[in-house]
Amino acid sequence: MSISNYTFTMIKPDAISKGLTSTILKDITDAGFIITALKLTSLTKTEAEKFYSIHQDKPFFDDLVSFMTSGPIVAAILKKENAVEDFRRLLGATNPEKAEEGTLRKKYAESMQRNAIHGSDSDENAIIEAHFHFAEKEIYSFL
Ligand code: RTP
Ligand code: MG
Repeated sequence: MSISNYTFTMIKPDAISKGLTSTILKDITDAGFIITALKLTSLTKTEAEKFYSIHQDKPFFDDLVSFMTSGPIVAAILKKENAVEDFRRLLGATNPEKAEEGTLRKKYAESMQRNAIHGSDSDENAIIEAHFHFAEKEIYSFL
């Protein structure tokens, strides 16, 4: 995988439970991202704590871990030029009340915590997060 053309995303348990998976995947591909890895899976408590370890000292950490382990997630690797930045723009602000019109969080998020979708915040984290969820043989690069 070449750095900067890939990002990692998760559709979070709130969006899955509302049946939004295919709608969100369509929005993502309509925006020009190519799905190069995809799975319906879930996080154990230990995995969620590791995935979000950067936030371990924040007051919302325990709530975040329990939310992210409350149901299945969809994990995906996305390919596009400038993927990390472009996907963060498509995603919108962490707080949906502050997210711009047309962004995924504006459309689908309920609250700061139940905000429907994750997007990597840097090229380095995109690679780390992609490999957290996918083995090499599960990643398809077809461009
Ligand atoms: P994500 O990592 O999930 O893509 O979200 P993000 O970059 O926009 O936000 P981040 O600061 O990394 O926070 C990770 C997730 O923690 C929950 N959160 N809750 N209650 C709160 O104040 C609060 N702040 C953050 C959200 O689910 C957020 O997406
Ligand atoms: Mg983040």
